Amino acid sequence: MRVALATCARLPDGNDDVRALAGALADLGVHAEPVIWDADVDWSRHDLVVIRTTWDYTHRPDEFLAWADRLPRVLNPVPVLRWNTDKRYLRDLADAGVPVVPTRWDPGDVPSDWPEYVIKPAVSAGSRDTARWSAAEHAPARAHLRGLRDAGRTVMVQPYLSHIDTAGETALVFIDGEFSHAARKAPILAPGTGVQGLVQPGDGRGEITAATATGAQLDVAHRALAAVPDAPDLLYARVDVVPGPDGDPVVLELELAEPNLFLRHEPGAVTVLAEAVLARL
Ligand SMILES: Nc1ncnc2c1ncn2[C@@H]1O[C@H](COP(=O)(O)OP(=O)(O)O)[C@@H](O)[C@H]1O
Ligand SMILES: [Mg+2]
Repeated sequence: MRVALATCARLPDGNDDVRALAGALADLGVHAEPVIWDADVDWSRHDLVVIRTTWDYTHRPDEFLAWADRLPRVLNPVPVLRWNTDKRYLRDLADAGVPVVPTRWDPGDVPSDWPEYVIKPAVSAGSRDTARWSAAEHAPARAHLRGLRDAGRTVMVQPYLSHIDTAGETALVFIDGEFSHAARKAPILAPGTGVQGLVQPGDGRGEITAATATGAQLDVAHRALAAVPDAPDLLYARVDVVPGPDGDPVVLELELAEPNLFLRHEPGAVTVLAEAVLARL
């Protein structure tokens, strides 16, 4: 049995999660290796492709999805990847009654009713092309919004949810349909800095620490997963929640394509994941 753990050219060996999963699969007698998704590869040599650290697809989502379509077998399934790599899925969650971050889609101008807000594209990862703006920064914020729109991208505008500054963001990791563990991500967007570069290890932004999920967070996460169209078989899932305007948890992101699963924060989680992969082979 051969499993490809799909990654990108910038991370040819994947990350901690990928190395741990390859090791846990080896213990089960399954050969797994990181493979760069857009390299010249004979994918028929692999019984299964598991999407992992393919984080450069956000520049070319169509190419990425066309590649996934051509694979003999991939998890999570392609319809899930197609739905989930564009944050417009948040509208489906909201329609299903799941609390999500209040969002304006493709507004004509920057908001005048929110003291601080976030502008981001619907297809992104790692906070790319994302910024936090204040009411005093209309000109650069407007340029940001127009730049995204002129590039043909769907623009999202949200109030800056300031509880994140103290509570952070909580990632709830699910493996094979079951809640596994939670992690806290420190806030990333600093005021007055505009569109920033990618988070670098050690710069404090987005730092990951262990966390315990609350009942309210778990409830929102389960409701988000129940609202995924067509109840697909999910090998893994991550639901990122933040305290909303009234302090109750709302979904910031539902990550079903290429989430970092923060496996090192839960001893045993990687074995559960490896066994779930084996069960699908
Ligand atoms: N409305 C918001 N309020 C506060 N912080 C936000 C908001 N939207 C995004 N952020 C910050 O920006 C980061 C990246 O945004 P996110 O929606 O998670 O997109 P992605 O991780 O796909 O780039 C989050 O981890 C969070 O720190
Ligand atoms: Mg995120």
